Amino acid sequence: MSLKLYTYYNSKVIYGPDSRYQVLKAVGDINPYKICVITDGNIATLYQDYIRWLENELEIEDTLIIEPGEKSKNIETVITLWRDLFERGLTRKSLIIGIGGGVVLDIAGFIASTYMRGIDYISIPTTLLAQADSALGGKTGVDFIIKNGIGTFYPPRYTFIDPVFLETLPIIEVKSGLAEIIKHSIIRGGGFYELVAENSLETIERDGELFGKFLELSIETKVNIINKDLHERGLRRLLNLGHTVGHAIEKLSSYSLPHGYAVSIGIALESRISREILGFKYDDEVVNILENYGLPTEYNYDVEELVHEMKMDKKNWHGKIVMTLIEDIGRCKPVELDDDHILEVLRRN
Ligand SMILES: NC(=O)c1ccc[n+]([C@@H]2O[C@H](COP(=O)([O-])OP(=O)(O)OC[C@H]3O[C@@H](n4cnc5c(N)ncnc54)[C@H](O)[C@@H]3O)[C@@H](O)[C@H]2O)c1
Repeated sequence: MSLKLYTYYNSKVIYGPDSRYQVLKAVGDINPYKICVITDGNIATLYQDYIRWLENELEIEDTLIIEPGEKSKNIETVITLWRDLFERGLTRKSLIIGIGGGVVLDIAGFIASTYMRGIDYISIPTTLLAQADSALGGKTGVDFIIKNGIGTFYPPRYTFIDPVFLETLPIIEVKSGLAEIIKHSIIRGGGFYELVAENSLETIERDGELFGKFLELSIETKVNIINKDLHERGLRRLLNLGHTVGHAIEKLSSYSLPHGYAVSIGIALESRISREILGFKYDDEVVNILENYGLPTEYNYDVEELVHEMKMDKKNWHGKIVMTLIEDIGRCKPVELDDDHILEVLRRN
């Protein structure tokens, strides 16, 4: 398979086997003064050869390692990293390379966007969720009061999506990423949705080419949307499907659920709500698809608590809960909902 190039807002995305080595050429183009790598403890161990190769080839100033997992995605981690960069003498002409899943990349992107008002950034996603979704579109940030409460829009100069990283990914993280891929297929509809609907975890585990196709279609779908609306003022809001409920569930689970699992439960519940509010007909089918990929579709929540969490969401521009709902496969739209209405619908579902 040859490498594929996608672009959005001066940001280049290179997808394909061994694309991780293309970072040398990208760094040559940027010509930075001092580079730091940011990664987590799991990647630092699993991919020590690659990191050592980078350190040697690029004369990396230091590799900064954070604790794996959502619990690290906070302002304390950011302060430690900011301090590390100052101590190592990075300037406005320096470069950050983030290597990891959505947590590392959300933090590394935030660091790059804020250090001395913004320095160059390269992103190397290593989870399916990050490759298919979170590393695309420039959203960065940390959890503060609410999920992703503080952050910026800051597309990296380059993103290298190399499927080799997925070989070491635990199945739970594969399934977590599949939730975002399924989300993209519902938003896009057509052949992508049909392909997802007619397959399952079992078939994609057997067929690497098919799995690659899923990833490619997901990247393509997301890049097409963010090219039209980077700052989420219109079309990009569709990508929040499953996330109003999903973020609330993530918070209620004290972040013990993987992000994609919470999104899966969110897509299932928001499909039910779509039936009630927009007459969406395929809610059972959507729930079946999620289950066919081994994803959870239910959660034992307290309705009042869920609504309380959803009220805090960033998407609520005018104080009312906003949810991306499905009119039909391939046709979604953000809808503003009254608390009483949503409470009543949730009590029935
Ligand atoms: N910025 C965005 O647009 C956006 C979109 C969706 C989600 N997110 C964020 O992404 C985060 C979730 O990302 P995630 O699911 O990648 O979680 P994660 O970064 O926590 O990674 C999951 C686990 O997999 C490990 N891991 C990473 N790569 C591996 C590999 N190749 N082999 C083995 N283990 C590996 C990590 O160390 C971690 O333990 C959430 O914080 C979510 O809010 C951001």
